[in-house]
Order: sequence, then C-alpha cells, then structure tokens
Amino acid sequence: MKAKKVTKAIFPVAGLGTRFLPATKSIPKEIMTLVDRPLIQYAIDEARAAGIKEFIFVTSRGKSALEDYFDNAPELESALKKSGKDDLLEILKETNMDSGAIAYIRQNRPLGLGHAVWCARRLVGNEPFAVLLPDDVIAAEKPCLQQMVEAYAETGGNMVAAMEVAPERTSSYGVLDIGEDMGSIVKAKGMVEKPAKGTAPSNLAVIGRYILSPKVMTNLNRMKQGAGGEIQLTDAIAEEVADGNVFGYRFRGQRYDCGSKAGFLQATVAFGLSRPDLRDEFGAYLHDMIALQKAAQ
Ligand code: UTP
Repeated sequence: MKAKKVTKAIFPVAGLGTRFLPATKSIPKEIMTLVDRPLIQYAIDEARAAGIKEFIFVTSRGKSALEDYFDNAPELESALKKSGKDDLLEILKETNMDSGAIAYIRQNRPLGLGHAVWCARRLVGNEPFAVLLPDDVIAAEKPCLQQMVEAYAETGGNMVAAMEVAPERTSSYGVLDIGEDMGSIVKAKGMVEKPAKGTAPSNLAVIGRYILSPKVMTNLNRMKQGAGGEIQLTDAIAEEVADGNVFGYRFRGQRYDCGSKAGFLQATVAFGLSRPDLRDEFGAYLHDMIALQKAAQ
C-alpha cells in the first residue's frame, strides 16, 4: 500500500502536569530540562527528522514559556554575536521555527488526550498526522517517529508505537490485542485503555507516538468520556480496528517516561552519560555515589 506522506504533527501540551507540582505551578512540564534541553526540544527534533513540516501545539493557560521558547530572541542573539559566541548561536538555531511552521491552539479544559488532539482538527484537515507526547522521550539510533514513518509507508492506516511492559504495569497504558504478529509490526484486533489488573489482552503497551488517519478525528467528534472521565484517544483509534487499520510498531530504542519523577531521573542519568562533554565527570560521580551507598548499607 502507498501511504500519503505525513507532514503535520500535533504536540498535546495542555495537561496540568500534576505529578511535577510544585514545579509545574509556573513552568510547563514540557519546558523542564533534560540535561540542557527542554523536553519539547527532543520531540521537535524527532519530528523534524521524520519529515514533519507543520508543528501544531495544543496548549492551555500558563504555557506561554513554550511559545517564547520557539520564538527568536533578538537581544540574546546580538549579545552572543557581539561576544563572538558562535557555538551558542548555533545551538540557539535549533529552537527557531520558520514563520508559519508552528501553530498554537488552545484546549480550554483538560478533558483528556483525545480531546486535546481533536482541538487541532481544523489545522489537520483531511490528511494523516502524527501525534507526539513530549513527556515520552525516546533514545534511539534512528529517531522513533522516523522508524514509524518508514513502516507506515508500507502499511498505511493507523500506527501506534508499542513496547512490551511487565504484566503488572499494563494497567497504566493503552494495550494492544494482537491479531497478527509480523515482528516489528503487529496488526491489532483490539485496543484498550488502562485495562483493569488481570484483564489486559497482551503486554504490548502503546506509548506516546502515533501516526493517525483523519478518520480518527471523525471518530473523536462522537467520543464520550471514557476511562478516568477523559476523552480517550485510544477509544477513537480502537474504532478503526474492525477495518484492519490499526498497527502497533515495536520501535527500536529506549523510552523514558519523563511524565513521572523516576522516569525523568532515569532519563537524566542516561542522557547525561551519553554526552561526550559530561560522560567522564558525571560517570565518575555516579560511580562514587553508588560505592558510598553500598558502603553505608
Ligand atoms: P498526562 O497523562 O501525562 O497528564 O498527559 P498531564 O496533565 O500532562 O500530567 P499529570 O498526570 O497531571 O502529571 C499525557 C499528554 O497529554 C497531554 C499532556 O500535556 C501530555 O503531553 N494532555 C493531557 C493534554 O494536552 N490535554 C489533556 O486534557 C490531557
């Protein structure tokens, strides 16, 4: 099957981020920093690598720091230029977005991920689109969304990033009911959001990367509140299962749940250790810390 090119991506960033209070009282979760880049920068870089040209942010009150982050900073740039800090100017370039490439739309009440995605329906129109949740950060040789775009070129339909989780963790995720297992791609025969303990159809969990057909937007038009009183994206995707149009993609890479404190700390360690400028000092420090802890036990 020849699938239409995916050039638009939605970044739902309207959640309350309550797990990171009090920090998120005044800082959007997506601006929180992993080493030296805000979470949102990792998601944008991944989307760019996958060929995304239009970036749609679903925001809410108190997220203006996000809009400023992607704007030009003339005073800062001229100060850096004057002092000859070309390397920093180069780094700043990553944050600049071409005029018209980025759009912000408001979700005026946090009614859930499905509702946040639906808020972008007019900007998406009748085209396939990607959804990236910036608090899922994925370290991968080939960026996760790029892997998915390549797989999607073969399958079309709807594709969700999937990974095996421990059976006792399935109730925290959307979970796929596997119809046909083709290795990295699976065809789903069902999909359920946060199944009650012991009822999950598999341990293949959906994480925050999606490529969706405009049909899912149409389904969202009719959606009522589901699990947790929220409008669930999973339910709108699950409606497409009957037509054999939902695929899970077992991506290659390590996903960090930066929406949780433990996940954020793990990502900080992993990304810190992967940086050539930090590896030696940080690695030695961690090594000493662990030795000290062991000695104290
Ligand atoms: P989460 O489930 O992590 O919720 O949302 P949250 O509000 O961000 O954080 P906690 O649980 O209170 O700590 C997953 C993604 O969906 C977006 C969030 O911004 C996040 O990127 N989202 C969620 C919305 O945009 N709107 C919503 O109504 C809910």
